[in-house]
Amino acid sequence: MNLRRSSVFAALLVAGCDEGAVVTVESVGHAERGRHVLEQFECGACHRIPGVRGPQGRVGPSLAHFGQRAYVAGHFKNSPEVVVRWILDPPSMKPATAMPNLGLTESQARDVAAYLHSLE
Ligand code: HEC
Repeated sequence: MNLRRSSVFAALLVAGCDEGAVVTVESVGHAERGRHVLEQFECGACHRIPGVRGPQGRVGPSLAHFGQRAYVAGHFKNSPEVVVRWILDPPSMKPATAMPNLGLTESQARDVAAYLHSLE
């Protein structure tokens, strides 16, 4: 990802708006790094995630075909920005959710979003 796009994305996150600029799957983060982040944080303890080593838990929904999913957590329209927000702090979006805040940095969450959106 080039720096200019990344700072546009950061500005979007800070401003909390999506006027005009579109964050694409390619610009949100780096999918291959995201795969390592998924392994490092053991997201597989609760999710089945194709291509990620480790456990394949059943507590949360399978993340197979995530790139084609219409909604995140059954409620929020699926887009790279929404997935980043979700991964950073699920309870802030859906207080009753069973998915905890796992303490990823924004950059880690962006890379994970890129990986998950690459799952066709
Ligand atoms: C303790 C179990 C647990 C862990 C660990 C966990 N999740 Fe989740 N996750 C859930 C649950 C439960 C849901 C369903 C949330 C809901 O609908 O309220 C969920 C939902 C999601 C969703 C939305 C899926 C969908 O189909 O809408 C994504 C994306 C996601 N998790 C990513 C991650 C990532 C990335 C990690 C690791 C950083 C992770 N999760 C770790 C339990 C977990």
